[in-house]
Amino acid sequence: MKCKIIVVSNGKGGVGKSTIAANIAIDLKNSGNKVALFDAEKKGTSIFLSERDDLDVYPGYDRMISQTLTAHKGNYDYIVVDTAGVNSASMQGSQDNLQDLINTKVIALADLVIVPLVPSPVDVRKTEGFLSELEVLIDASRGQLKSLIVLNRYRYKEIMSKEVIEHLKASYSNHDYHCFDNMTIRQATIVAQADGFYQSVNEYAPGAPVAMDFKKLIKMTTSMLEAK
Ligand SMILES: Nc1ncnc2c1ncn2[C@@H]1O[C@H](COP(=O)(O)OP(=O)(O)O)[C@@H](O)[C@H]1O
Ligand SMILES: [Mg+2]
Repeated sequence: MKCKIIVVSNGKGGVGKSTIAANIAIDLKNSGNKVALFDAEKKGTSIFLSERDDLDVYPGYDRMISQTLTAHKGNYDYIVVDTAGVNSASMQGSQDNLQDLINTKVIALADLVIVPLVPSPVDVRKTEGFLSELEVLIDASRGQLKSLIVLNRYRYKEIMSKEVIEHLKASYSNHDYHCFDNMTIRQATIVAQADGFYQSVNEYAPGAPVAMDFKKLIKMTTSMLEAK
């Protein structure tokens, strides 16, 4: 199988990029794939997963990241790259051009970009800006790149969550560039707990409702990549 590169990205911080990258990497590995996880954030959290001796975790905040990823492609079925929310750096008053460059470089090599967002109007607005920027890279990839929108921290009973999902359905279920196929990950304490043990949700609590959400995400991820 040709190695597929999955990049988890969104200009926004705190939307679940690292959580989703870790869960996808671990679960793909547990189903028998060779997987590498790259942490392309300057002071990222994914690198902590190198505590696990059964997962190959690499630092990826490096302007030579394209060459590094290409060099590793021969050894893996999947490379998962966790990126930084660049806006969070600029909000701290230090516009991080290298981080921005790295994010662009890894997306340019990706087969699939997973774009998580959380159900809040501000997040939706910021994410829509990011999705427009992504279109340029999708065009440049000549149809090679796909993007999947994932609504994270979804609360079934909350009106705002329902409104956001309706908006995403109306805007992206039939979009030329991006795909929103009702993919939601619910808000659940287990998600952070699993992370505390360097485990995926499916390892930590396989019977939990939120574990089903991650199973669905991994299935959708692999089928989008197979369909290419
Ligand atoms: N579905 C979820 N339910 C509950 N907590 C979550 C969920 N997804 C992420 N979190 C928590 O939210 C915080 C931010 O997530 P993180 O993956 O670090 O975001 P990012 O990488 O985008 O900055 C973390 O503490 C994480 O454990
Ligand atoms: Mg992160």
